[in-house]
Amino acid sequence: MRLSNVASLLLLPLATLVQAITWTATPFNPSSIPLAVRTPYLSAWLPQGAGAALNDVWASFWNGNILGWAGFVKVDGVSYVFLGTPNVPATFSKAIQKSSQFTSTQSIFVLSAGPVDITVTFLSPVEPTDLVKQSIPFSYMAVSAAATDGKSHSVQVYSDISAEWVSGDNSLTVNWNSTTSGSILTHQVQLQTPTVFGEVNDHTQYGSAFYSTPNTVGATFQTGADVTVRAQFINNGRLANTLDTGFRAISNNWPVFGLAHDLGTITTATTPVVFSVGHIRDPAIQYIVAGGATQNRNLYFLSQFPTSAAVISSFLGDFSAALTRANAFDAKVQTDAGKISADYASIVALSIRQAFMATELTISKTSTGAFNTTDVILFMKEISSDGNVNTVDVIFPAWSIFLYTNPMLGKFLLEGLLRYQASGQYPNKWSVHDLGSSYPKALGHNDGADEAMPVEESGNMVIMALSYAQRTGDISHLQRYSALLNQWTGFLVSDSLIPANQISTDDFAGALANQTNLAIKGIVGIGAMAQIEALLGNTAQSANYSSIAASYVTQWQKLSASTTDAHLTLAYGNSNSWGLSYNLFGDKLLKLNLFPESVYAEQTAWYQTHTNAFGVPLDTRHTYTKTDWEIFTASWVTTTTVRDLFISSVKKWVSDGLNNGPLGDLYDTVSGQIAVGFRARPVVGGHLALLVL
Ligand SMILES: *[C@@H]1O[C@H](CO)[C@@H](O)[C@H](O)[C@H]1NC(C)=O
Ligand SMILES: *[C@@H]1O[C@H](CO)[C@@H](O)[C@H](O)[C@H]1NC(C)=O
Ligand SMILES: *[C@@H]1O[C@H](CO)[C@@H](O)[C@H](O)[C@H]1NC(C)=O
Ligand SMILES: *[C@@H]1O[C@H](CO)[C@@H](O)[C@H](O)[C@H]1NC(C)=O
Repeated sequence: MRLSNVASLLLLPLATLVQAITWTATPFNPSSIPLAVRTPYLSAWLPQGAGAALNDVWASFWNGNILGWAGFVKVDGVSYVFLGTPNVPATFSKAIQKSSQFTSTQSIFVLSAGPVDITVTFLSPVEPTDLVKQSIPFSYMAVSAAATDGKSHSVQVYSDISAEWVSGDNSLTVNWNSTTSGSILTHQVQLQTPTVFGEVNDHTQYGSAFYSTPNTVGATFQTGADVTVRAQFINNGRLANTLDTGFRAISNNWPVFGLAHDLGTITTATTPVVFSVGHIRDPAIQYIVAGGATQNRNLYFLSQFPTSAAVISSFLGDFSAALTRANAFDAKVQTDAGKISADYASIVALSIRQAFMATELTISKTSTGAFNTTDVILFMKEISSDGNVNTVDVIFPAWSIFLYTNPMLGKFLLEGLLRYQASGQYPNKWSVHDLGSSYPKALGHNDGADEAMPVEESGNMVIMALSYAQRTGDISHLQRYSALLNQWTGFLVSDSLIPANQISTDDFAGALANQTNLAIKGIVGIGAMAQIEALLGNTAQSANYSSIAASYVTQWQKLSASTTDAHLTLAYGNSNSWGLSYNLFGDKLLKLNLFPESVYAEQTAWYQTHTNAFGVPLDTRHTYTKTDWEIFTASWVTTTTVRDLFISSVKKWVSDGLNNGPLGDLYDTVSGQIAVGFRARPVVGGHLALLVL
């Protein structure tokens, strides 16, 4: 991660007083509610701050840019806006939000529109064990209506998206077309002059956005200026089935892509009308291969669905089954995390779509142009701290979510890094920091000038390689890449007991020599390599690494102890310093038991008495902390009191009403405000740490 790009993300103005929201928020009101959150480029949220109803603000991209997404419902001839804040020269009312709820996969809103309540369900599927479905870059919005007075009412539903979904620059020209026959109505919109692999303001600059709905009886469509299309529905309860072909800039008379349904006369809850929103680009990723050549990689689902029409038809047709699977997934997470606490379960539920959003499953093509589905690489965008590809120290904190949902995804994440470094192009003896500076270009760092985190990344790679093998019994990657793993462990043997002046993953805190917590990372890495050698049948090497790790722990205990108080230091010799020793999580995850229980007990007692209003600081240099490292620490502390102290601190932060971006992982423990601007990062996958120990 790097800090250069985050200044522009810093706090949007917010009311300083937290107002009470006027609806029921379950399990709580987060800083931003996921709406359509599936990929780095399909990431629509409802910013909250102190609280915003579905029709109080526009949906926003994760970085705060508006994504036009409007919705109206017409009840007995009276129109109500339920989604977004459209300005239309026509008469309409505002539906009144009664409740909001989020689960791991869904955000559900109930709003009253006169005598009818509508339920708006935003489902972003999480399908970790189905690579085709997981890679489909689409989300659902489903709208159902029910009378609250037992009487019959005439109901029509409308929704549109703007062209803001296809670029980070609203002055650019877009074109569009629509499919209006067949079983699906689809609008497709794209930049007139795309830039393949390009980004502006973190939005992709190529590919197409799609807004679709089943072409059932009474369904209508229209493209045109926002005010025209929306007024058409408000005044008539149906669209004109006309297409605007005056292609123009996104912000020039804002072209919108409208779809409407006539539900007819309803009383009890209707089956929902379903819309799908998505964004497809192909190729998805540019990846460096041997000899500095590059390979274009494609989203996995393309191997099953060669056309956008085919994937949209399948996706919409699958809604009811997808909802059933989502409900089962949500229930399993709730049950597992609920065994820790209700607060913990709510943090985990809020983290899941955000973590998966950063990832994209890709495959390559063979020399004949056929898809090669045995060649899978999962890519991850770092998000907001910078746009690096497959940052090792972002994958590491997120690792738990993959272990919990499907460890194979972890293998696919590591594969891109391992294959690149095994190609011999990366010159350093330690592990690379990331696969490329700017997503979606995974072009490596053949100059070796990536952000150097030598002990951090080398330790992370060895730990994750073993972790995957332990969970699955699959050691094929250990066999294929054993030379690299040995090289990195050799580096750890020379550099982790006395770590040189360097940054850790917490680069925003600056470089420091002799970091106690970084040494833990390195020593756990050496201990992990001992296990890897054992799995590979290399008994002597295994014994050698085991004895080095054990000897380092003994020496480290002397080096890292404070002489004035009972705690580990932040850096050797600085007795008044301390920090979160979150890297002990690796010792527990891998069941290495390298570090004595007395260390865990001592740190637990120290944290109990060193917390601020919003949690325990990361270390003595600042008052900020990180949610992932608090939860990592919560995973190994020796008392449930201190475990719950960490969890309740994170819960207090994520629900404090002082912020309005997707969940930030770096925040101030005194003020409860976001620090530095990190938001929407996949590291929140680490909030599942307690589910994998
Ligand atoms: C819409 O335009 C895109 C891009 O030019 C094209 O690939 C697609 O086939 C068109 N769809 C229809 C229905 O004309
Ligand atoms: C498919 O990918 C795998 C894994 O990279 C590779 O070993 C295999 O040779 C590829 N198959 C073809 C036909 O290119
Ligand atoms: C043990 O490993 C270290 C670090 O890789 C190496 O320098 C040393 O030669 C090894 N010792 C034996 C006995 O293999
Ligand atoms: C790091 O710790 C070692 C062992 O205590 C010490 O010899 C060395 O001077 C320290 N390095 C720095 C830069 O403080």
